[in-house]
Amino acid sequence: MNLEFNNETYDAVLSILKEKKTLYKKLSTLTCLDKVSLKTCGHNDSLDNFQIFTPRFIVDDMLKSIGIDNITNNNYRILEPTSGDGAFTCRILELRLNKIDKSLGDLFEKALVCLSTIYSIEIDKDLISEQRNNIYTILLKYLKSNGRELTEAEDAVLRFLIVSNFTWAETNIYQEPTLLICDVAFKMPEAEKKKYTSINFPVWNFTQNKVNLHYEAPEIGG
Ligand SMILES: C[S@@+](CC[C@H](N)C(=O)[O-])C[C@H]1O[C@@H](n2cnc3c(N)ncnc32)[C@H](O)[C@@H]1O
Repeated sequence: MNLEFNNETYDAVLSILKEKKTLYKKLSTLTCLDKVSLKTCGHNDSLDNFQIFTPRFIVDDMLKSIGIDNITNNNYRILEPTSGDGAFTCRILELRLNKIDKSLGDLFEKALVCLSTIYSIEIDKDLISEQRNNIYTILLKYLKSNGRELTEAEDAVLRFLIVSNFTWAETNIYQEPTLLICDVAFKMPEAEKKKYTSINFPVWNFTQNKVNLHYEAPEIGG
């Protein structure tokens, strides 16, 4: 069962998370790196192939062609269906953070809002874990460079958001392509065992240091 929050404080979220021992242990594995580390290429043994990860200049060109105003609009939900270690998601997050107006409101809450509508699916467990660390690192370094340290409860909310939105899962790409390739994504490790459980995506709302969270089924088709 997915965890839901109804206007909970960060402290309340922390105590709820602490009760979920397996989940809480998973959250503790997120690590702030010395610097974000993105691959250029690699071998995926389980998929039996060699793969190329998108270099920054191509990422930037592709995002520009979609429109930076679209990319940095936090109301638009973005899904990266085969996300690797985060070439696109990391850049999108950076662009959104760069656009924050720091003069008003809490920077942590604004950073959470930027992240909350970025969704990511990756089939390779190691890569999704590297991507989560990259995202966590970008967020923490951004906040720290702006003098915003996190409490234990705030850090737990951030970790939970990353683990919820950046999912170890398999995108359904074995179908007629539609405008949006990802009609549905299936949770791991169940999908590996051919038990296809469709993912419902987390929908967040952060206002005045309170957390709301519910889940919605993916929209089918373009
Ligand atoms: C070529 S890499 C690109 C990664 C990233 N999008 C980038 O541009 O750097 C493709 C990624 O898709 C993942 N992948 C392949 N099939 C997938 C599927 N059905 N669902 C989710 N991820 C998948 C691979 O593990 C790999 O990390």
